[in-house]
Amino acid sequence: MDIAEVAKKLSTPPGVIVAADESPSTMKARFDAVGIPDSFEMRVKWRELIATAPIADAGAVGVILHPEMLESAKLIEDLKKQGIIIIVKIDSGLVDFNDKQSLPAEADKGEQTTKFEENIDELLAKWKSQGAGATKFRSVFKITDTTPSDELIAANAKVQAILAKKTQDAGLVPMIEPEVLRTGNHTLEKDAEVTSKVLKGVFAEVDKSGLDYSLAILKPNMITAGEDNPNQKSVDEVARTTLKVLMENVPENISGINFLSGGINDELSEQYLNRICQLAKEKGIENISASFGRAIVATPLKIWLAKDENLSAAQEALVKRVQNSSLARQGKL
Ligand code: G3H
Repeated sequence: MDIAEVAKKLSTPPGVIVAADESPSTMKARFDAVGIPDSFEMRVKWRELIATAPIADAGAVGVILHPEMLESAKLIEDLKKQGIIIIVKIDSGLVDFNDKQSLPAEADKGEQTTKFEENIDELLAKWKSQGAGATKFRSVFKITDTTPSDELIAANAKVQAILAKKTQDAGLVPMIEPEVLRTGNHTLEKDAEVTSKVLKGVFAEVDKSGLDYSLAILKPNMITAGEDNPNQKSVDEVARTTLKVLMENVPENISGINFLSGGINDELSEQYLNRICQLAKEKGIENISASFGRAIVATPLKIWLAKDENLSAAQEALVKRVQNSSLARQGKL
């Protein structure tokens, strides 16, 4: 499949993307929480559960993986057998944005920026040869009284633009992921304001890089009140605000927009997506979908618990979440 076919497949109804790209340390934390012993083999086994469930029939078109999973040729083959596109996470996580040695403690806002390897071009070629058709890279922005800072927005925008362009130059489809986190007690209006500013910053840099938007995907957050704010807004209000922010800030010719779930539970993530897609359809927009992590895989993991006798129940739960997300991305849930 060439880059244009990959972009099209990832963005066409009824397709959804499953995010199973937890780093080894995040996966260990997820395993610890449910009592599963962590090892490379166990991390592969968990992703094999995903790769051997009939997720393509349920609507999945892509699965995001951490690069360590590309070392398992069988896993990649099992996903490809279903026609699933492999999307590789190409950032190396987060590092402190401010140099704590040189900065006075009171000036440090505790922000983090996205790290990537110096030999990223070589790595992109390697991951492509291992079967990847697309990449994703995440930057995070935390809402507090003093953050996100303008400096962090500018720095992360540059990283997003660099990795998007390098990805496309390597013949792969980039997923640009600037995530405004839900942590905190901010209002929905504040989230809309910050997310708009972040998207403006990102696309100003990406524009300069000469990226071909028709071969790129945006993975944004939905706009909600902070998770500690008791005044959560209705599904309709979340959907209307989210769509408005996207329409005001995202280039029209982007191939697809695939939301992260950001810790919103599965059913609510699906309802938000469903309403967003209904409203978008009224405007003739059909390239909005899901790229959910926890909202698709959290429940199946809790059912599985690494026990063979739980495998089919966990796979059924996974397929149901993919089906629901796929229905939601068509506005038919
Ligand atoms: O980068 C984050 C993941 O790909 C999506 O995860 O849906 O749990 O936020 P999430």
